[in-house]
Amino acid sequence: MAKERIGIMGGTFDPIHQGHIRMAQCALAQLELDRVLMLPSGNPPHKPDITPGEHRYRMVCAACAGLAGLEPCREEIDRSGVIYTVDTLSILHENYPKAELYYIIGADTLMELHKWRSFETVLKLCTFLVCPRSWHYTPKQLNEERKRLTALGGSFIMLDMEVLDVSSTEVRAAICSGESTPNLPVAVREYAQTAGLYGAQLRIPEGPQWLEMLFRELSSKRFAHTLAVADTARRLALLHGLDPVKAETAGLLHDCAKCLPLKEMQRIARENQLTEDASILESGALLHSVVGAHLARTKYGCTDEEVLRAILSHTTGKAGMSRLDMAVWLADTIEPTRAPYPLLDKTRMLAGLSLEKAMITSLEGTLQHVRKKGDAVHPATVETLDWLHTLPIN
Ligand SMILES: [Fe+2]
Ligand SMILES: [Fe+2]
Repeated sequence: MAKERIGIMGGTFDPIHQGHIRMAQCALAQLELDRVLMLPSGNPPHKPDITPGEHRYRMVCAACAGLAGLEPCREEIDRSGVIYTVDTLSILHENYPKAELYYIIGADTLMELHKWRSFETVLKLCTFLVCPRSWHYTPKQLNEERKRLTALGGSFIMLDMEVLDVSSTEVRAAICSGESTPNLPVAVREYAQTAGLYGAQLRIPEGPQWLEMLFRELSSKRFAHTLAVADTARRLALLHGLDPVKAETAGLLHDCAKCLPLKEMQRIARENQLTEDASILESGALLHSVVGAHLARTKYGCTDEEVLRAILSHTTGKAGMSRLDMAVWLADTIEPTRAPYPLLDKTRMLAGLSLEKAMITSLEGTLQHVRKKGDAVHPATVETLDWLHTLPIN
């Protein structure tokens, strides 16, 4: 059987950005690796200004959630003290005894390799994949160093890629000022701002604590989706004159119950008499909004009734729903990491113009989808669509 080929991409990832992601994806594709471990470095004692490892790890998880082959790895952040690459590689060899390891580095790092602890051992533990661009050295210098290290037993493969020129300083400044930048995944930006990292002002006082709870309760994919919904809901609220903090709060908490097993949701619903609707009780896809609104209040401590109502109505809709409810419903269906579905582009386009029109398109899409699957449509969804059609929409 062919050996598994594992790429390793280390870095402070403070925060992870598209430059890192592009590099990992190039290595994955060009070397036909089975996966790339994204490995945030531990907190070195001599770098006190580095963001705590747990935050950096969560941002890596959020960034990689929908990306095939990229796998967050906590190996270094879970260890204390100074961590050397030679130790990490030895541990990874123990963890994956049958794998070939490929360590992805930038060209500048190639020139620094000889300074690494036990670097001659490091050379034997992995093949280096080198990104071509250097900020400090000429191609001649790089080539000479590569030859020298190869003679010492090292193995190097140059990646064929255009390096995305992203500066971490720039990215951190954008987080702090609240600007958007294409170099930062939406979920990473939302995480950093909600956690108050890089000097960002906290918009939601409980944000940092909720992120911790949500990260524990949700899958990485659901966590990334949650962050993207919070960001989209806030933007829609700003666009349509609604309260952006309420919209963002509802976005953050809307799926807080989604990863619970159905039996657990049903237990919570029964014990707290949340609903008597049998069709909701039978379906996790519907019940998580009812249980989510309950947990948002009791476990997360959210007391804003408008926010709780938006969470409650985000699966079936509700005749008479508020415009905040609509913004959260729509954010859930159009957030930028959503996989394409038939009416997605149209709903996205309409959401910028009219919440009501976008809701009609979105609900029509939901009805088509549910009916196509042969499932029963919940009456509240049909009532919501009928009600929307009675509104004076221009
Ligand atoms: Fe949901
Ligand atoms: Fe959702």
